[in-house]
Amino acid sequence: MGKLATTLRGTAYRITHGEKPAYRDAPADYWNSRHAREGESLDGVGQIGLGHAANLADYNEKWHHLAAVLDRCHVDPMARALDAGCGIGFFTERLRLRGHLVAGIDFSAEALAIARQRLGSGVPLHVQPIDRPVPGEPYELVMCVDVLFHIVDTDTWRATVANLASTCQIDGTLVIQEHLAQPGDSADADHVRWRTLEDYQEALPDWRLIEHHTYLLPQADTTKDILAFRARSDLR
Ligand SMILES: C[S@@+](CC[C@H](N)C(=O)[O-])C[C@H]1O[C@@H](n2cnc3c(N)ncnc32)[C@H](O)[C@@H]1O
Repeated sequence: MGKLATTLRGTAYRITHGEKPAYRDAPADYWNSRHAREGESLDGVGQIGLGHAANLADYNEKWHHLAAVLDRCHVDPMARALDAGCGIGFFTERLRLRGHLVAGIDFSAEALAIARQRLGSGVPLHVQPIDRPVPGEPYELVMCVDVLFHIVDTDTWRATVANLASTCQIDGTLVIQEHLAQPGDSADADHVRWRTLEDYQEALPDWRLIEHHTYLLPQADTTKDILAFRARSDLR
C-alpha cells in the first residue's frame, strides 16, 4: 500500500509505486488531462474515439431530446438555469439560445477555459465539484447531462444528487441525463458506474419523476435516459 498524497485541488489519493492515481481517487485529474488533450473536440465530453463529427451528430440528437423534454415539462425559457457538469459548454450554449439566464459549473478548469471561449464573458462559470453549494442558487432549472455516471464512489454520487436537488428551487425542475442500467448490469470502464432508475428514486425521496424519456444515440449506438423531477407537491 502506498502513501497518501494531496492534489493541488486538495483531494487526497493514494500513491502506489509512482503510478497514476486511480480514477476514483482523483477524478478531476482525469478530466483535466482529457479536456487539455481534446480541447474543443467533442471527443473530450462525448464518446472517446468516435471523432468530433460523429459526436456532434449525437450531441445534436441529445439536444433535440433534451429540448423536447424541457418543452413537455413546461420549463419556462426565461427560467434561471444551471448546467451542472457543463464541460466545454455545448448545452450551456443551447440553454442560453433557448432563452435561459444560464450558469455553468464543472470541476475541470481546462473544460471551463474552453467553455469561456464559446460563451464569452456574460455567463457565470464556476470551477468546483457539484457536490458543494453552488453560487447563485437556487436555480429554477438544474440540468446535469452525462455526468453522474462518472461519479463512481457511491457516497459522493448520493451527496451529489442530493446537492443538485437542493440547488434547485422548490418549484423548479431537475433534469438528469444518464444511461440507466438494468439491475445487475455493470460498466466496463473505471470512470463509469451505471445506476438504475430505482437508485435515483431512492436518492431523491422528496422528488417525483415527471418524465422518463429513453432514446437511441445513433452514432455511439447506445441508449440515453432523460429523467425530469419536481419536488413533491406537499413540500412546495
Ligand atoms: C462526459 S462530460 C459531459 C459534459 C457536458 N455535460 C456535456 O454533456 O457535454 C462529464 C463532465 O463532468 C465533469 N465532472 C465529472 N465529475 C464532476 C464532479 N464531481 N463535479 C463537477 N464536474 C464533474 C467533467 O469535468 C466533464 O466535463
